[in-house]
Amino acid sequence: MGRDFRMKNKIGIGLIGLGTVGSGVVDILRRNGDLIRRRLGVPVEIVRIVRKDTNKSLPAGLSPEVITTDIREVIENPDVDIVVEVIGGFEPAKGYILQAIENGKHVVTANKALLAVSGEELYRAASRRGVDLYFEGSVCGGIPIIKAIREGLSANRIESIYGIVNGTSNFIMTKMTREGKGFEEALRETQALGYAEADPALDIEGIDAAHKLAILVNIAFGTPVDFKAIYTEGISGISPVDIRYATELNYRVKLLAIAKMRAGCIEARVHPTMVPNSHLIATVEGIFNAVYITGDAVGPTLFYGRGAGDLPTGSAVAGDILDVARNILTGNSGRVPPAAFREEGRVPLRIMDINEIESMYYFRFTVQDKPSVLSRISGILGDHQISIASVIQKGRSDGGNVPLVMMTHEAVERNVKSALEEINRLDAVSEKTTMIRVEEGK
Ligand SMILES: NC(=O)c1ccc[n+]([C@@H]2O[C@H](COP(=O)([O-])OP(=O)(O)OC[C@H]3O[C@@H](n4cnc5c(N)ncnc54)[C@H](OP(=O)(O)O)[C@@H]3O)[C@@H](O)[C@H]2O)c1
Repeated sequence: MGRDFRMKNKIGIGLIGLGTVGSGVVDILRRNGDLIRRRLGVPVEIVRIVRKDTNKSLPAGLSPEVITTDIREVIENPDVDIVVEVIGGFEPAKGYILQAIENGKHVVTANKALLAVSGEELYRAASRRGVDLYFEGSVCGGIPIIKAIREGLSANRIESIYGIVNGTSNFIMTKMTREGKGFEEALRETQALGYAEADPALDIEGIDAAHKLAILVNIAFGTPVDFKAIYTEGISGISPVDIRYATELNYRVKLLAIAKMRAGCIEARVHPTMVPNSHLIATVEGIFNAVYITGDAVGPTLFYGRGAGDLPTGSAVAGDILDVARNILTGNSGRVPPAAFREEGRVPLRIMDINEIESMYYFRFTVQDKPSVLSRISGILGDHQISIASVIQKGRSDGGNVPLVMMTHEAVERNVKSALEEINRLDAVSEKTTMIRVEEGK
């Protein structure tokens, strides 16, 4: 690709998909065209856009001649330097990206689902062909977190990542916390505001967050990631009563994507998590995203911004276009390996099973109001090497049941599950116990 770079007087873009993100990219390239030309030295020109439905209206300033339904007009077009894939999903997106790479095109994508599952194959294909594969828009929309890990923090050993990486879930959790709403009501209101899809499963079940975590783990720790090994639990089981207790204990409940380096293994998990109010990540509200990364040299860092939407995600995709264009113009394509490590420098690391992790825990037991119950429960916890950090016991409720809330010190998850199974079998325990993992976020 670098052969004729000195003669290039423009950078040609082939866009696949003209939905939310595609339109945002078109808008940014048009409105900031002069600025981009000043930064690059040459203009960025949209050569072709592939869309399925050619009858749909076009964004302002776009000539109908650039629209096509024929993918070959992008991936085989000699005037296209960079193929931008923003259709989403697995196929045909994956096939298009692989063909574009094979044809020597550089690729920019925002396709988190595809990268989480097939990233390894795509990274390898791009590296071997010597083309760039950039994917800033795939994690946290407008926040340049991929670039931060791949470049800004590249001299660090990454120790941990705590991310609020799904704006929909964070919006729902914020509503539940601030307005005391139940999950279903908060979800309905979030959908009415346009912040949640008609089918919100990917967001509320934590799958979208797990996709993003898989991408971050891959580039932060230099390891292939088996997406299925990431423990994923969503927010639909969180009830207002637990949010109230969390508040009383000076915590917030957040859907966190967590990754940690643990003696040659990786912890990678997505689940509702209690974090202390005093932690920066606890202050991230509404649709905003944030990633709190600790490196051995830099210490803790926080990246904050909008995680979705046409312009924030378009900002990330267009930023990638500029990066790739600079590499083309200076003959430096492939300068930064797609997965942040050179292929031979990547080391497969095992993702720990959730039962192996150590965490602190919040428990809410619903128990009969009898003097012996607390000691029975404490005894079972003690038998499983779980030590109690604090207890809140409330007065008798109408049915004679009382909530008993406990926070623990660090314990092994497997022990916690066995202890809770035993406790849930006690006659004095009237409902299944609620458990939420707690992180101090260090
Ligand atoms: N939306 C966000 O805020 C956001 C944030 C981060 C990442 N992303 C990622 O960005 C990607 C795009 O998301 P989006 O929200 O822009 O989706 P979207 O609004 O649904 O747009 C996708 C577009 O792709 C087009 N398309 C689908 N299949 C096609 C095909 N085979 N050939 C040509 N065009 C095709 C559709 O065209 P027609 O209109 O012609 O049917 C549609 O307009 C996804 O990977 C998503 O995960 C999105």
